[in-house]
Amino acid sequence: MYVYDEYDQKILDERVDQYRGQTERFLAGTLSEEEFLPLRLQNGLYVQRLAPMLRVAVPYGLMNSAQLRTVARLSRDYDKGYVHISTRQNIQFNWPELAEVPEMLAELAKVQMHAIQTSGNCIRNTTTDQFAGVARDELVDPRPYCEIIRQWSTLHPEFAFLPRKFKIAVCGTEEDRAAIHAHDIGIELVKNSEGDVGYRVIVGGGLGRTPVIGVEICAFLEKQHLLSYLEAILRVYNQHGRRDNKYKARIKILVKAMGIEAFRESVESEWVHLKDGPTTLTDAEIERAKSFFTEPAYAEFDNTPDAELSAKADADPIFGNWVKRNTVEHRVNGYRIVNISLKATGYAPGDITDDQLELLADLADRFSFGEIRSTHQQNLVLADVPSNELYTLWQILQKAGLATANIGYLTDMICCPGGDYCALANAKSIPVAEAIQARFDDMDYVYDLGPLELNISGCMNACGHHHIGHIGILGVDKKGEEFYQVCLGGSQAKDASIGKILGPSFRQEDMPDVMEKILGTYVDLRSEDEQFLDTYRRVGIAPFKEKVYA
Ligand code: HEM
Ligand code: SF4
Repeated sequence: MYVYDEYDQKILDERVDQYRGQTERFLAGTLSEEEFLPLRLQNGLYVQRLAPMLRVAVPYGLMNSAQLRTVARLSRDYDKGYVHISTRQNIQFNWPELAEVPEMLAELAKVQMHAIQTSGNCIRNTTTDQFAGVARDELVDPRPYCEIIRQWSTLHPEFAFLPRKFKIAVCGTEEDRAAIHAHDIGIELVKNSEGDVGYRVIVGGGLGRTPVIGVEICAFLEKQHLLSYLEAILRVYNQHGRRDNKYKARIKILVKAMGIEAFRESVESEWVHLKDGPTTLTDAEIERAKSFFTEPAYAEFDNTPDAELSAKADADPIFGNWVKRNTVEHRVNGYRIVNISLKATGYAPGDITDDQLELLADLADRFSFGEIRSTHQQNLVLADVPSNELYTLWQILQKAGLATANIGYLTDMICCPGGDYCALANAKSIPVAEAIQARFDDMDYVYDLGPLELNISGCMNACGHHHIGHIGILGVDKKGEEFYQVCLGGSQAKDASIGKILGPSFRQEDMPDVMEKILGTYVDLRSEDEQFLDTYRRVGIAPFKEKVYA
């Protein structure tokens, strides 16, 4: 990962001091609520239902063990002993005291972490594939490009007050694990017929109250032009995006209003002034970014670890099942990628305690070169574990409640904080998630359903990505009562789609039954090995509707 130089550290330390002063003046009454609002937002601090929420940036989901230990300690000393992993790979503290946030930021700065640009109308944390650099199916490692975008976008003065927040995601694989079609800008790293790296650029995607799948604005952008082209898009957006209505202020609305052709033309004519200018990426600059993502010192294994692993998996079926469900093939022989599910039944999806964080920091040091990653599905990843250590690792994870073997299945759901924490919520989302997890606790049934994405949001802001879940649940308000709307057929993959609303909404207590009917319909109608989304796409929404509203 990128390591700060003295300038980075100085900027961060000064920023903490500045915010400390601002907080003190607010608490002393010399700064008004209105004056303080943009200042706290620029430092990741929201005010929620019951307490402030501090969102800490995790650049493209990468953390080291020292950072994890600091997060664990802060959650214990300044919060309630747990944190939440967000769908943008960030970490959220749910209960800090406003007066103590500057101290938390000072502690975070010591391990090169901060909360800059994690809220407000600026370019937010760039997200990517949680398996970047280790995935077997990777064409180009996206991390150096994410880092280049991060350095360019952090504290960029021109883009500090955009019409609305701005989110960028990058992927470098055939299978899109970064949801690039659901972002303001999505970047796919590609190669042309000569083997040169370039970018396919998608623009105007987003969820929220108007969900839109992004469209291609450029099929192949040469690699040196990344920043100037992004700058051109952002300039057009900054100038023409609507500032009169915050619900119409995202770039997706502008792209829709102009049409992609006209939008592309505007970007191209802006680009004429920027292309080949000072932001042009030289090979040396790209190499500099790459130098922070060098290979760890992998051991050279023959095939013995894999053979050992198969023997252990056969001997202990519970372990074997975990290997099958939660680990993924690694680019390097003798290693595997380990997913750590934060979706155990009875716990809020994406939450993790201080003790678990500390344990994972130790495990990262012992088994995975001291690195840990967060995923946009609200889980964690140890990316470089030797296969012959998996059994030991699994035993430790199991004792800590971190070996739930459900990655990619129904109970590995995405869920926003909803009405338990969030002031904008129409309804609670965590209890719905928990009720569904409790109802579907027969793992054989869950596995039989195959890969399934269930995404839950507590309001139409769609933090839980409900529109792009195969099954999406949205909390709605009906005359002061909490109800839940269901949509089917969403996808965040390359064939991205927005789910379709099933029909009238349901009461919270009915949701497990509703899910049972939806899943039962799928099981009845699927042809052999057909996954939920494919069955839905083949048969349409009608049979699901019939069953659920019968
Ligand atoms: C609890 C405090 C939170 C507040 C007040 C909040 C507020 C919002 C708002 C107002 C939007 C819609 C903005 C727009 O479309 O322009 C939004 C979208 C979003 N939020 Fe949150 N959010 C909160 C927590 C979270 C959490 C915990 C997550 C991750 C689990 C999250 C991730 C997202 C994502 C991914 C979107 C996606 C919609 C998009 O940008 O296309 N937020 N949030
Ligand atoms: S979707 Fe709504 S309820 Fe859920 S976190 Fe976002 S703003 Fe809050």
